[in-house]
Amino acid sequence: MSDMITIALTKGRILEETLPLLAAANIEPEEDISKSRKLVFATNQSDVQLLVLRGADVPTYVQFGAADMGISGKDTLMENGAEGLYEPLDLRIASCQLMTAAIKGSSPKAGRIRVATKYVNIAKQYYAAQGRQSDIIKLYGAMELAPIMGLADEIVDIVDTGNTLRANGLEAREFIADISSRLIVNKASMKMKHVRIQAIIDGIAQAVDAGKN
Ligand code: PRP
Repeated sequence: MSDMITIALTKGRILEETLPLLAAANIEPEEDISKSRKLVFATNQSDVQLLVLRGADVPTYVQFGAADMGISGKDTLMENGAEGLYEPLDLRIASCQLMTAAIKGSSPKAGRIRVATKYVNIAKQYYAAQGRQSDIIKLYGAMELAPIMGLADEIVDIVDTGNTLRANGLEAREFIADISSRLIVNKASMKMKHVRIQAIIDGIAQAVDAGKN
């Protein structure tokens, strides 16, 4: 195992909230990530590099040890499972809720229900735990359209402001889980590079507590 610490991040809105947390641990990319097509970035720390991945791929890199640490949404961790990694810190960014939703004012469907979502595993588990039979339809986005077009009775999706649901004539129904971004660490890396990784965790934790994000 090399001494390099590799941290997997995602582009976009969450990156803007993530960089100040890393800066608090004295880790800053050498160039502007948002303006580059590169996927690997050196930092001001010669032993720390950053990867920029699709959100759903971050836990995979960390689970297999291709990255030592990463920042991932709790929704992604719930959906993909979190084997082989620790989740030492709730970063309290990108906070939202995982909810079921249906057409506003529609009466809840009795019996077997059709659910459209990109969170297939979470949805299966949720409806099973409610003792409800469900057929889950996998979608990759624009879940809100599914009930309107008669593809599904309900959706399972993340809700932040509720604007997307409202704009499409839907309403949130049942709460499934609170979601936010989490720091994740590969279990083997945590053992082998403990001092360095713990220092990074502590730096980020202080920034989270101080509300710097
Ligand atoms: C999410 C989610 C909803 C929307 C909810 O999509 O799928 O569409 O945000 O936010 P709101 O309650 O504030 O309207 P996102 O914009 O993250 O894009 P995605 O479809 O790629 O996940």
